[in-house]
Amino acid sequence: MIPLFDLTRQYMRIRGEILNAIDRVISSGRVILGENVKKLEEKVASFVGVKHGIGVASGSDALLIALRAMGVEKGDVVVTTPYTFFATASAPYRLGARVIFVDVEESTFNMDPNQLEHVLKKEKVKAVIPVHLFGRTMDLEALSFLKEKYGVMILEDCAQSFGSEWKFKNGEIKKSGSVGDAAIFSFFPTKNLGTYGDGGMIVTNSEKIAEECRMLRVHGARKKYFHEKVGYNSRLDEIHAAVLSVKFRYLEKWTEERLRAAKTYQRLFEEKGLPVIYPRVEEKGFKYHVFHQYVVLFENEETRDRMREGLSEREIQTAVYYPLPLHLQKCFKGLGYREGDFPVAESLSKRSLALPIFPELRDEEIEEVVSTMELFV
Ligand SMILES: Cc1ncc(COP(=O)(O)O)c(C=O)c1O
Repeated sequence: MIPLFDLTRQYMRIRGEILNAIDRVISSGRVILGENVKKLEEKVASFVGVKHGIGVASGSDALLIALRAMGVEKGDVVVTTPYTFFATASAPYRLGARVIFVDVEESTFNMDPNQLEHVLKKEKVKAVIPVHLFGRTMDLEALSFLKEKYGVMILEDCAQSFGSEWKFKNGEIKKSGSVGDAAIFSFFPTKNLGTYGDGGMIVTNSEKIAEECRMLRVHGARKKYFHEKVGYNSRLDEIHAAVLSVKFRYLEKWTEERLRAAKTYQRLFEEKGLPVIYPRVEEKGFKYHVFHQYVVLFENEETRDRMREGLSEREIQTAVYYPLPLHLQKCFKGLGYREGDFPVAESLSKRSLALPIFPELRDEEIEEVVSTMELFV
């Protein structure tokens, strides 16, 4: 069996360090909001290149809390993409915001900046949530430009893009998560930096947003038992922070290994001339893609599904991210969208297939995936 993702192979590489880290937390007796969370917040913020980090219980909570801290309220317009994980859109929806979707580009899976500008011209938008999907950075320069031009707030959804970068025309390289008013990360186990359970973080340069997030994650109380707002119980646990600090040390290495896997796929697709569209690994001198997922495109739904079934019969796991774009989800019916509104997102949901990728995936396994694919094209 070739898994889509395997947590245990990674665990075997770092088991001793992880167990020690967990043991230290429990032995210290301080398991909620202690030194481990604080240190991780500082590490992540400085890695991204911003001032503050606020650990919370999940990426989904990070979205909700960050939006509230940015002042998004009932009736505000929030723009995002229909081709992302559900939480990106459910967060503004839960706050009573009016969610407007903008279609994605087929070549990047990310929100199309031209279509975003079109909406910004027409509507009074409070905030935009761009998603760096599958680990590929959206054009941060275009994003910064639109932020300035239209005075709109940006919350970057970096749940899948920890460590990804963008090179600006002046040569400056910035990390995803550093150009928005705030950004969120998810530490779900499958993520490039993931723990053994749920976890998330908000990062921001704004003292005000950071303060508000810190308050909202502990029931809206700056001072214990004195509640300024109705907040949440949404803290990153000390155990998770300690685990993440261990894993953080390996992140660059693991990202390199993901890139190696993506290059191996690319070489084999080229050699065999398979009729699939795959993400190109280009030597650009910066990490525009950190390959959280390795997603290829087929001609149509039938060829994609035939491939998926064929691989599954031969015990090769794949996944479809995402089978139904968000504007067509039953729970968002009230937003008034119909089939045909976002043709690129709709087409990608029918044609895309995620192949196995994780740092420990072996070249022989990738060879087996590709040679098995040859049987079903
Ligand atoms: C793009 C995106 N946004 C938000 C989330 C939510 O993160 P979590 O699962 O930690 O709540 C995820 C992940 O699952 C995601 O992929």
